[in-house]
Amino acid sequence: MIRPHWPVRSLGAIAAALLLPGLARAQDTLRVTSPDGRNAVTVGVREGVAYYAVERAGKHVILPSRLGFTFRGARSLGDSVRITASARAGADTTWSLPWGEVARVHEHYNELRVGFAEIAEPRRQFTVVVRAFDEGIGFRYELSGAGGFGDFEMTDERTEFTLADDARAWWIHANVPRPDRYEDLYSSSPVSVIDTVQTPLTLEMQSGVVAVIHEADLVDYAGMSLAGHYESRTLQVALAPWADGVKVRGHAPFVTPWRTIQLADRVEDLAPSLLGLELNPPRRIENTSWIRPMKYDGIWWGMHLNVYTWGQGPHHGATTANTKRYIDFAAGNGLSGTLVEGWNVGWDGNWMQNRDGFSFTQPYPDYDLPGVAAYARSKGVSLIVHNETAMGIENYERQLDSAFALYHRLGVHAIKTGYVNDKTAAGDSHTGQYMVRHYRKVVETAAKYQIAVDVHEPIHDTGERRTWPNMLSREGARGQEYNAWGGEGGNPPEHESILFFTRMLSGPMDFTPGIFDLLIKRQTGKPRSPDEPRPRSTLAKQLALYVVLYSPVQMAADLIENYDRQPAFQFIRDVAVDWDTTRVLAGRIGDYVAVARKTKSKDEWFVGAITDEAARTLDLPLSFLPNGRRYVAQIYADAPNASWRENPEAIRISSQPVTSATRLHVVFAPGGGQAIRLIPAP
Ligand code: NOJ
Ligand code: CA
Repeated sequence: MIRPHWPVRSLGAIAAALLLPGLARAQDTLRVTSPDGRNAVTVGVREGVAYYAVERAGKHVILPSRLGFTFRGARSLGDSVRITASARAGADTTWSLPWGEVARVHEHYNELRVGFAEIAEPRRQFTVVVRAFDEGIGFRYELSGAGGFGDFEMTDERTEFTLADDARAWWIHANVPRPDRYEDLYSSSPVSVIDTVQTPLTLEMQSGVVAVIHEADLVDYAGMSLAGHYESRTLQVALAPWADGVKVRGHAPFVTPWRTIQLADRVEDLAPSLLGLELNPPRRIENTSWIRPMKYDGIWWGMHLNVYTWGQGPHHGATTANTKRYIDFAAGNGLSGTLVEGWNVGWDGNWMQNRDGFSFTQPYPDYDLPGVAAYARSKGVSLIVHNETAMGIENYERQLDSAFALYHRLGVHAIKTGYVNDKTAAGDSHTGQYMVRHYRKVVETAAKYQIAVDVHEPIHDTGERRTWPNMLSREGARGQEYNAWGGEGGNPPEHESILFFTRMLSGPMDFTPGIFDLLIKRQTGKPRSPDEPRPRSTLAKQLALYVVLYSPVQMAADLIENYDRQPAFQFIRDVAVDWDTTRVLAGRIGDYVAVARKTKSKDEWFVGAITDEAARTLDLPLSFLPNGRRYVAQIYADAPNASWRENPEAIRISSQPVTSATRLHVVFAPGGGQAIRLIPAP
C-alpha cells in the first residue's frame, strides 16, 4: 500500500499561518488521522468542557472523554473553555537505537495542536497536542502562563478514557498488595468492574480492536494509574501523590507527559511496541560505546533461596572468593557481567527499616571491591554493582556522585538499583513526582560517569531509553524472585504469556530467567512440591524466556553449580541480547506466545515460544527467514514426558534443516516452552 506522505515543510508553513492571531478560525471540533488513515482523534468542546475521542477504522474506541485539571487554591481547568486556535504538523523520519528489540524506528505521524482558553476571567490557556501514528495515538497538555497562571499545585488530572464497549481488560492493582511496585499477578475482567489499575493497561475490545493505555515521556510529573468505577466504562487518570496529597507541583508554562493509546487489530501486532519511544526526545548521550547489552550471572538467587545472606555472617554471599568464582564462570561461558548483591555496608539487621544505613562505597570486610573489580576487568567481565536504597532516597542522593565516581574509577559500567519499601520516609508515593524526579536524576547522573542502570522496584517505563540509553532495563513486574519465596507457590504458568502483552509493551524487563534446578532440590536433596514456591515452568520454557521477554541485560539467574554439565546451558551461551528485528509469530493473551528475533548485524535468528498450564501444539511458519537460504534449527523442546509439575527438567535437544518454507511443529508440555536458534546451514 502506498502511504500518503505529508510534505513536512509546507505543513510547517500552514501551521505558522494557523497560529497567527485572527487567522485560525475557532471551530468546535477538529480531527487528525494517522498516516494510514485508520486511527482518528477528534478534539472539541461540548457545553464548555474540553474533550477528545478516538476511532480506529471507523470503530469507536474512546467515546468523547473529558480533558482538564483540578488545583489546590485555583479553579479547575478545562470545563469552561472554547477553542481559540489550531495548527497542524507531522513527521516522517527513521532513526537508529544503539540497542533494542529493533535496530531502527520509523517515526511517522500527523500532529494536531488545539488551543483552548477559558471563557471567563482569569482566561487561562492550554494546548492539547495530538499525534496520530499508524500504531496508536498520543496526546499531551501544554499549560500556558497566560491569565497569571504561574506556580500551581495540581490535585488531579481529569483526563478520562470512556471505552466504547465493555472491553476485556488485563490488569494489575495499583495499590495492593504492594503499593506501586507493579509486582502483582494479572487478572482479566470487563473494564466495567476494575478498580484502580496500573498501566500499560491492555484492552481487548468487543469490536475486535486491541487498545493499550499508557504514558510516555514522564520527566517531572506524577506516575499515572487508571481509576475504574463499578458499572462504568470510564477510566480516570489517577496520579500518585506527594505525602501531602498534592499530585504535581509545577510552574506554567508546563508540559505534561503523553497519554498514549496503542491500537492494533490483533494482539500479535502489539509488539514490538515503539509508540512510547517515538514520543520521547532524541538521544542525549553521544558516545554510547560504553553501554553494552549483556548476559550476566550473579550472587543473587542464592540469597532468595536462603543459601546465602546479603548481610554479614557464615553464609555471606558476596565474598571475594565467591565473586571470583562467578566471574570465572561468566568469562568461561560467554556472559559479560557478574552481579554482586550484599557487598556493601547496610544489610545487617532490618535493612528496610534502617534504610538510611546503606553505604554505597564501603564494602564488607570480606569483599575486596577494588580487587574483584580488577579481577573482573582482567577477565573481560563487567562487575554489576548493586545499590539497594530501601527507598532511603536522601541517603542515596547524598552519595550518588561519590559512589558513581568510585565505580567509574574501578571500570564499572553498570549498576542495579533497588527500592524495596512502599513510600519514602516522608510518605511520598513510590511512583509520585518526587520519585519520578529521583529515578531520572539517577539515570542522568549515571550517564555522566558512563554507568548504565538496571532498576528494580522502578517507576514504569515511559520510553526514557530513547533519550537516555544508559537506562538499560528494569523490573516493574513480578519476576522470577517470586518463584523462590512467593506465598502463592510462585508465579502461575500463564504469567509470562500475560506479561508479554501487558508490562512488556512499555519496555525491557529484568525478569532473570534461566533457573535449571527447577525443583529447588540441590540444598536439601528433597524436591519442593508443586504447592511450594518454585518456577512453574519446564526447562525449555526457562530458555524460551530469553527470547520472549525482551531485555538488553539477561541474567543466567541460577546458582552457577546448577549449570554444571547441563547441555541445555548451550542455549544461554548462544542467545543474543540485541536485535535487528522482532516478529510475533502467534499469541493469545494468557495462553501462549511465540516470538522470532533476528540477532543484531548477524545472519542468525532465535525463536522463543511459551505456553501456560495447558499442553498445546503450534505450527510456526518460518517465513521470516530469507527465501531460498538453508538454515539449521537447534531446538530445545519439552521432552514427551515433561511437565512443570512432575518432570520440569526433561528436555529434548535436536537439530534439523529448515528454510523459509518450513512449518515447525511445536509441542508444549504443561507449563512448557521451546527455544530455537537458527543459523545458516554449513
Ligand atoms: C528486590 C529485587 O527485585 C531483587 O532482585 C533484589 O535481590 C532484592 N530486592 C534485594 O535488593
Ligand atoms: Ca522486586
